[in-house]
Amino acid sequence: MVASSVHCHVGYLVILCFLLCFCGFGHALYPAMYVLGASQLDVGNNNYLATLIKVNFHPYGIDFPGGEATGRFGNGNIITDYLAKNFGLEASPKPYLSLSFFNTNKTTGVNFASGGAGILDSTNKGLCIAFSKQIDYFNATVEAIVKQIGRGETYKHISKSFIVINIGNNDILVYNGVGFSSIELNGTPEQYVDQLISSVQPLLKDIYNLGGRKFVIIGAGAQGCLPILRARQATGDCNGDANYLSRLFNKRLASLLRDLQSNFIGFQYSFFNPYTAFVELYINRRKNGFTEVKVACCGAGNLNATIPCNATTIPCSNRTNHVFWDSVHNTEAVARVFMNIAFRGSYPHVYPINVKQLSDQ
Ligand SMILES: *[C@@H]1O[C@H](CO)[C@@H](O)[C@H](O)[C@H]1NC(C)=O
Ligand SMILES: *[C@@H]1O[C@H](CO)[C@@H](O)[C@H](O)[C@H]1NC(C)=O
Ligand SMILES: *[C@@H]1O[C@H](CO)[C@@H](O)[C@H](O)[C@H]1NC(C)=O
Ligand SMILES: *[C@@H]1O[C@H](CO)[C@@H](O)[C@H](O)[C@H]1NC(C)=O
Ligand SMILES: *[C@@H]1O[C@H](CO)[C@@H](O)[C@H](O)[C@H]1NC(C)=O
Repeated sequence: MVASSVHCHVGYLVILCFLLCFCGFGHALYPAMYVLGASQLDVGNNNYLATLIKVNFHPYGIDFPGGEATGRFGNGNIITDYLAKNFGLEASPKPYLSLSFFNTNKTTGVNFASGGAGILDSTNKGLCIAFSKQIDYFNATVEAIVKQIGRGETYKHISKSFIVINIGNNDILVYNGVGFSSIELNGTPEQYVDQLISSVQPLLKDIYNLGGRKFVIIGAGAQGCLPILRARQATGDCNGDANYLSRLFNKRLASLLRDLQSNFIGFQYSFFNPYTAFVELYINRRKNGFTEVKVACCGAGNLNATIPCNATTIPCSNRTNHVFWDSVHNTEAVARVFMNIAFRGSYPHVYPINVKQLSDQ
């Protein structure tokens, strides 16, 4: 008797839920987040690769819920997680390589980003999921959704979802001698940036052709100020050549985005510039509680950047006053500040609209 009454209640709930969730709104899916790029966005894809570029060990994730080393390149939440939170998604989209089955009914999106990836397939080749390969995976995901809800609804869903991209930092690092691949250095910085921009243009177009319309594009950081490059300077100063490349890249990328918007119907974007945001954060470091802006929290040697953070390293005790977690990656504290700027800030850090305005459109 009790059992059948419980069944009955469960039955009503299921029917009610069915009516609310599926009859009221058809099969339309809630906008989600599709993430492509490199380590600033990777939430664990590289765990599934045979690669040196992998951080699924303690002390990575020391400030993540449960202290779990998820494969995020940081001490806790990363940019992706703050984007998901600010968008009001229930969870940060999972790594593509962790998904055995794609349930569109519950999706908050998919994360294709892979530590080490660059615009050029040659960047850290064989050690990451190249950006072009990430787009193939995005394509496969779109097809998987089509199978479940049909092409029309799928394109509606993709066009309302956020396409988050951060790519280029590793190409800039490789040009400056950091990475696991070498490039032909016979080009000038200008020629190299030309090559990056002309290579990324058709890839962004591919994503548009797969239905992407709302783009959150994150530019290059002040790569010359990463501890790994500072540590190579006799003076310990930022590497001016690498910073020049970052600035040039951001300028060209921003103008490429303007072109895409004027040439492709419905293409909308918000460009976040982590270079200018870093400079601002540096200038106002005391206000933000950052007392250590040069030395990495985890690592050893000069600026804690000549011996990488590894499983036996005991990191610094205060991570909220450090800008850098390891020799290449920011702390959680910086990711939070950056995404606050991306969502609520303005030119020159985020434009032509901020991410909040993009999400309101
Ligand atoms: C998603 O929900 C629909 C409608 O209830 C259902 O027909 C479909 O089987 C569900 N798909 C999955 C993968 O659970
Ligand atoms: C997506 O994959 C299909 C094959 O499944 C292919 O024909 C198409 O060119 C791909 N699109 C992009 C943008 O890569
Ligand atoms: C860490 O540093 C911040 C900023 O300097 C400071 O406010 C905070 O009290 C420190 N936390 C600990 C546990 O020492
Ligand atoms: C790991 O880091 C420690 C310093 O924290 C260093 O002494 C040790 O040599 C490193 N191990 C490897 C394999 O690099
Ligand atoms: C440098 O790294 C060590 C771990 O190797 C850590 O204990 C120390 O606090 C770090 N220094 C700074 C200034 O963060």
